[in-house]
Amino acid sequence: MRHQGAASAAAEGAWRTVDSDDDESGDAARDDVACPSAAELDRNAVTPASSVRGFGYVDGELHAERTALSAIAQRFGTPCYVYSRATLTDAFREFDAAFDGIPHLVCYAMKANPTLAILDLFASLGSGFDIVSGGELARVQAAGGDPRKVVFSGVGKSDAEMEAGLAAGILCFNVESPAELDHLAAVASRMGMRAPISFRVNPDVDPRTHPYIATGLRESKFGVDTDSAYALYRRAAAMPSIDVRGIDMHIGSQITELAPYREAAVKMLSLVDALTAERIAISHVDFGGGLGTRYRDEAPVAIGDYAAMVRELMRGRKEHLLFEPGRRLVADAGVLLTRVRVVKAAGERRFAVVDAAMNDLLRPALYGAWHAVDAVRPRSQDAARYDIVGPICESGDFLAHERMLALAEGDLLAVRSAGAYAMAMSSNYNARPRACEVLVDGDVAHLIRRRETLAELIAHETRLPPRSAR
Ligand code: LLP
Repeated sequence: MRHQGAASAAAEGAWRTVDSDDDESGDAARDDVACPSAAELDRNAVTPASSVRGFGYVDGELHAERTALSAIAQRFGTPCYVYSRATLTDAFREFDAAFDGIPHLVCYAMKANPTLAILDLFASLGSGFDIVSGGELARVQAAGGDPRKVVFSGVGKSDAEMEAGLAAGILCFNVESPAELDHLAAVASRMGMRAPISFRVNPDVDPRTHPYIATGLRESKFGVDTDSAYALYRRAAAMPSIDVRGIDMHIGSQITELAPYREAAVKMLSLVDALTAERIAISHVDFGGGLGTRYRDEAPVAIGDYAAMVRELMRGRKEHLLFEPGRRLVADAGVLLTRVRVVKAAGERRFAVVDAAMNDLLRPALYGAWHAVDAVRPRSQDAARYDIVGPICESGDFLAHERMLALAEGDLLAVRSAGAYAMAMSSNYNARPRACEVLVDGDVAHLIRRRETLAELIAHETRLPPRSAR
């Protein structure tokens, strides 16, 4: 069977220069669950027509937009991820608008938060998607995203995943090794198609971030080094089932400086010039993702400064731009809402044992990541120093260490900056059902993922066959 080369036609419609025709209406009206507004909950309180767009305190209580977090906990239970639609929308629009006037496409790196409603929202704002698996492609399609705005990254795509990407007509495969090029060429040839590709170059720069999330150093498993990229492009350009389109890089995550981007981009662009001189046309340049956010006291790069750097580097050039931001679009838009189950002391230490755990939020245990923890309704009594820990049977099960909080059993806490790599990295460890997720839009809360049930925890398993059949 011969598939149409949808990707070739795709690009035109996919590139954005202005965001004029966004229509986000009508995309979230399904399965809505009305949540009592702050005013309804506490009729005696004078809740101002709140100006909270993301998360903020109104009348002594932390709200998501105009919805009290206690109302969400009461209605949906805890642990629960809560997202602000306005914060998500603002973050996407800020990034997208920074490149107004030049052909570009923002491909949200959905690994940061792949929940359907979030993909749906970004798709309605015009976003494309950076995917790393066939599962992520299926999610984009289920969320109504446009496969023609999808770039497929990752060092180990399977043949089946390549087939799915080709059949869907994605914009580009970001190829990371010579062997992957051969696999993709064979798959495309079998399908009678040409696979659109870019090579992910590894510019060998130090992004000065946590070693687990640095990807642009020579020793990392990612990309092809700039020296061998040249020969690889020549080889790819001669392959009948390969359509060379672009070049890309992604040097790491939670990057808080511009210098590594500049250094890497200069190397990438000089390779583009060498290729152009060889008549290998590169039509798009993909700057990857990685822009950091503030968890504690980091000073993130302003989007305007990042865009100014990119504009300067691209001055006089014709290539279209692609970006793959993940964290920067979602981290600040979420909190993990959890309730204190038990307060206990051990020697000098005090513990607040909460109902969320490392299976819900792995970042502190895995990277030693610091997330702010706030009381939803702060108490006025003296604060004490607490370790905020979960019920899982490991000492590595903590959300935060040594936080000054005034709290008691039953109190609600909000773990901040939990929109990125939080629910996405959750698991069922200790046979804990995964948390629910709620998207707040003003004074309405949409349940966008319900809590897993105990039956679902064992739904994919069987006991041993009956003894007689063993
Ligand atoms: N593009 C590629 C090819 C990537 O591998 C990644 C992230 C991104 C884009 C998006 O990067 P961002 O803009 O989100 O920094 N679990 C870790 C982060 C892992 C990032 C993996 N790759 C964490 O919780 O910090």
